[in-house]
This record gives sequence, structure tokens and C-alpha cells, in this order.
Amino acid sequence: MLSDKQKEIILSTVPLLRTGGVALTTHFYNRMFTHHPELKNLFNMGNQQSGKQQTALAMAVLAYAENISNPAVLMPAVDLIGHKHVSLNIQPEQYDIVGTHLLASIKEVLQDLATDEVLDAWKAAYGQLAGLMIGHEAKMYEGKQQTNGQWVGWKNFKVQRKVQESKEITSFYLVTEDGSAVPNFIPGQYISVQVFLPNINLNQIRQYSISCAPNKDYLRISVKRERNEKFDINGMISNFLHDEVHEGNILSISSPAGNFTLQNMYPKKVFISGGIGQTPLMSMLESLDQSKENSELVWIHACRNEEVRAFGNRLETITKENQQVKQHQFYEVVNETLAAKDVYEGMLDFSKIEKWQFEPEAEYYICGPKPFIEKAVKELTDNKISEKHIFFEEFGPKSI
Ligand SMILES: Cc1cc2nc3c(=O)[nH]c(=O)nc-3n(C[C@H](O)[C@H](O)[C@H](O)COP(=O)(O)OP(=O)(O)OC[C@H]3O[C@@H](n4cnc5c(N)ncnc54)[C@H](O)[C@@H]3O)c2cc1C
Ligand code: HEM
Repeated sequence: MLSDKQKEIILSTVPLLRTGGVALTTHFYNRMFTHHPELKNLFNMGNQQSGKQQTALAMAVLAYAENISNPAVLMPAVDLIGHKHVSLNIQPEQYDIVGTHLLASIKEVLQDLATDEVLDAWKAAYGQLAGLMIGHEAKMYEGKQQTNGQWVGWKNFKVQRKVQESKEITSFYLVTEDGSAVPNFIPGQYISVQVFLPNINLNQIRQYSISCAPNKDYLRISVKRERNEKFDINGMISNFLHDEVHEGNILSISSPAGNFTLQNMYPKKVFISGGIGQTPLMSMLESLDQSKENSELVWIHACRNEEVRAFGNRLETITKENQQVKQHQFYEVVNETLAAKDVYEGMLDFSKIEKWQFEPEAEYYICGPKPFIEKAVKELTDNKISEKHIFFEEFGPKSI
């Protein structure tokens, strides 16, 4: 238990965390990887290079410090991180390693400001947070152990089928290697895929949303080939999956996790996706379509052009067969042939959609690049849609 005095000390470090949080977490990761190079197999080295994980951890530590007197308000964040941790098979003893290097980093970065009192307060605060997270994750592991078809850690799946969905998106249909049951999951959830990359001599793990409705036969993930033109760096795992993983090959994956899932507030659902962000929403859409419940479903998708649009035919079929589903497609540029197909030109813009109305009694699900999500959320909230009805997921450490 933290004393009142210790809580005050933690609060007094908030301004320092606000300005120097990322420097602290950057120092922390460098320190931890120097002492534990094996952890480079666990962490996403792309996120380390781009600084996304350092920022996500700094934001989490800051939020914790700000709410030190009432950690209960952090439960949604603890749950989101917990799902990610569980999908990476993080174990309680690893919290000691993180704690040791976080405290040493506070001392090394804050120098004279890190008095014994400050260090003691942070030691107690870290212990409290670690306890909260370990407890939450233990419940999630236990749930997996008790659920048929789920597992803890890693399991081999075979790539039964590889299907090109667009110029840059390929689906992988996965079945268990040992013939056991395919796990059930909640539409919107993801799995982690663990791959050994010979060129950097490391295992690397990435998350991929399941892009199909739950079924007995397979899990489907759909992967976009990442290229970063600005930095001339290719995405490590996505390119490996596209180029090196073939039908019949084995992939090591974790049990489905994630809390970006279908809610049950209103029958009307609006799915808003940018580019590859459509995968978790495809799972939700397919699943609601199959349930044949009479809910109104609106699918809004934006991508660069027709060549990169995946699942176009699937959408055509669903909308033809189910009158409750309406779809609206945005392309950055629309040529004459496309104009005839009733698509919209430019970035996502609700006002361009015929008969569009911001419906307060509906659930809004958004997935796509960060600026896309931010713009959509802003437009919705500016038009009196309650934040409680808006759900979104970023394909990387949470930064919004
Ligand atoms: C919950 C969740 C669900 C996801 N679902 C999907 C999905 O359904 N489909 C899908 O395709 N992806 C999905 N992702 C994203 C996926 O996990 C990977 O992040 C993605 O495939 C890129 O991984 P990579 O190894 O190919 O790229 P990385 O090598 O990790 O690189 C990522 C990006 O950063 C750039 N980069 C790397 N190093 C640097 C550097 N030094 N400076 C600047 N830029 C750099 C790369 O070029 C690339 O654009 C999901 C992510 C999450 C968290
Ligand atoms: C109190 C301690 C911890 C905090 C506050 C914390 C916080 C976080 C946060 C905020 C994320 C990003 C979640 C997201 O938005 O996707 C994350 C991811 C992650 N955490 Fe933790 N974590 C803690 C402990 C640990 C431990 C003990 C380990 C194991 C050594 C660990 C390993 C990871 C890994 C591997 C990721 C994914 C990284 C990536 O994708 O780049 N964490 N954690």
C-alpha cells in the first residue's frame, strides 16, 4: 500500500513525466535490452525503432501517476494492455525485470531529482501497478485454460490456403497442425503470429485481426504488405508472410485476444474503415450477416484506389443478399469507370454520403491509420454522437 505521502510524491513527478516521459522510457528500453537481449525476441523492434512503444509506455506511466489515488479508473487501459500481454504470453516474473530497469532508469535519468524518497515512492507505485496487471492477466490466462479450443502461449497452425485479396493484401487461412478444434473468438479479436527472421536472427511477433466470422474450420488473417517509402524500410513480418510463408507451412500463433469487439447496445452498427483497418470489421460484419438478426449495418470503407481494395466481391455479395447492409466506398481518385459504380471520391467524408444522418442510437466501430481514426471520431463527436457509442482500434501501440 502506498502512503499518502508517497502518493503526493508520485503526483509531484507528473510534470517531469509529462515533459520527459519518452526520454525515460527510451532509456529504460535501451537499458533493459542491454541486460536482457533475449527480450528483443518478445518486443516489436519496428515499434522500438519508430518510438511508438516508448511513447505508449510513457503515456501509461503518466496516466498511472496522474490517477495514483484512484487506479480503478485505469481498468480500461489495464484491460487493453492485458489483452496484448496475454497474446504475447507475458509472465509475472518478467514484471520484476521491467520493475528493476524502470526504477534504475528513473534514478539515472532524473539524477539529483531522484531522491531516496522519490525512488521509494516509485518502487511502491510500480509494485501496486504490477500487482493489478498481473492479477488481471492471471484471470485472462485462467479463462483460456478453461475454455475449449483456447490455449495459453503458442500453438502451431498450418497455412491451409493463401488468397490474394488485392494488390497488397493477402489472406492466410489457418488450421491447427494437430487437427484439434479451431478456437472460438469474439468478432474483432486478433491473434499474435511469431516468426523467426534469419536476417536479424530474432523471433518477432505481430498481431493480426481475425478477418472472418467465427467458424469451425479455420481462422483467417489478412495481411497488408507494408512498405515505408519515406524511410525506405520494408515491414519485416508482413513481407516475410507474403514472400516466405506458403500453403502447407506452419505458423506459431497465440490464442485470440483483444477487447475491440461487438457490443450489444443498439441494433444499428456503423463500420468505418481505412485501408487494412477493415479486417476486424469484416469479422464483425460477416458474423452479424450470418446471424440473420435484423440489424441495420452500414459499411463505410476508404482506401487509395480499386487495386488495393480487398474483399470488394465479398461486400457485393453480402449487400446483394442482405437488404439490411448498405455499403459506401471512398477512393482517393475516381476514374470514369469507377464513377459509374457509385463510389465517392476523396478521403472519408460523411457529408458526401447520400441520405447520411448522424444517428445517436447506433454503435460506431472505427479502424484505420491514426489520422483516419482521429478525423472520424472528431466528426462523430462534433455531430453529437456520444463517445460511449464510438469504439476504435489502432494497429499498433495505442497512441490516441
Ligand atoms: C491489434 C492489431 C491488429 C492488427 N491487425 C492487422 C491486420 O489485420 N492486418 C495487417 O496487415 N496488419 C495488422 N496489424 C499490424 C501488424 O501487427 C504489423 O504491425 C504490420 O503487419 C507491420 O509489421 P511489419 O513487421 O511488416 O512492419 P515493421 O517492420 O514492424 O514496420 C512497421 C512500419 O514501420 C516502418 N518502420 C520500421 N522501422 C522504421 C524506422 N526506423 N523508422 C521509420 N519507420 C520504420 C515500416 O516500414 C513499416 O511501415 C495489427 C496490429 C495490431 C496491434
Ligand atoms: C507495469 C508494467 C507494465 C506496463 C505499464 C506496460 C505497459 C504496456 C503498454 C502501454 C503497452 C502497449 C499496449 C498497446 O497499446 O498495444 C505494452 C505492450 C507490451 N508490453 Fe507491457 N507493460 C508492463 C509490463 C510488461 C512486462 C513485464 C513485459 C515483459 C517483459 C511487457 C512486454 C510488453 C510487450 C512485448 C508489448 C508489445 C510491444 C510492442 O508491440 O511493441 N510489458 N505494455
